[in-house]
Amino acid sequence: MKNSEMEQDILKVLVTEEEIHSRVQELGAELYRRFEGKKPLFLGVLKGSFVFMTDLVRACQLKSDIEFIAVSSYQNATVSSGRVQIIHDLQQDITGRDLIIVEDILDSGHTLAFLKQYFLTKGAASITIVTLLDKPARRAKAIAADLAGFVVPDEFVVGYGLDYCQLYRNVPYIGVLKPEVYSG
Ligand code: IMP
Ligand code: MG
Repeated sequence: MKNSEMEQDILKVLVTEEEIHSRVQELGAELYRRFEGKKPLFLGVLKGSFVFMTDLVRACQLKSDIEFIAVSSYQNATVSSGRVQIIHDLQQDITGRDLIIVEDILDSGHTLAFLKQYFLTKGAASITIVTLLDKPARRAKAIAADLAGFVVPDEFVVGYGLDYCQLYRNVPYIGVLKPEVYSG
């Protein structure tokens, strides 16, 4: 299926659509078990989590609501600057809420370390971190996900919400770009 203009930029597929689908169903079922009888708030970290979020909430039929926060730490580079900025803040009071933070990828850990602290100061009762991808090789902060979809090697990945320079978010699988895409 590598025939679209965009897909010609993909060097290799790391996680297929089918693998993502079945893992997301498992994650949804696990969250259901953990939160049955409760009303957690799914809190997506924009923009990267937007695809994962829509699949995950449908894989977990709890009476839950959703919220988003948008942060930026990359400014179009492929390595985190370490400075996390809130671009779009919470639109509701989260005091006493059980949060399920939904992230696309846990990389250096700067983003989630910052957000976890931020949500605790805002009064969250509990925080569960769910990340589609975990890239442990580059962790700079002592932070771990409670649930992770896939562990990925130390390569910059795109697709299923993840971007390079705001592109490739709509690629339906997780892939690695050809080197010339970065240099060009
Ligand atoms: P961290 O703060 O370094 O853990 O990075 C978290 C954010 O950086 C993620 O939510 C992604 O938006 C972005 N990011 C980290 N690694 C990658 C990657 O390999 N591809 C695309 N985005 C990434
Ligand atoms: Mg992100």
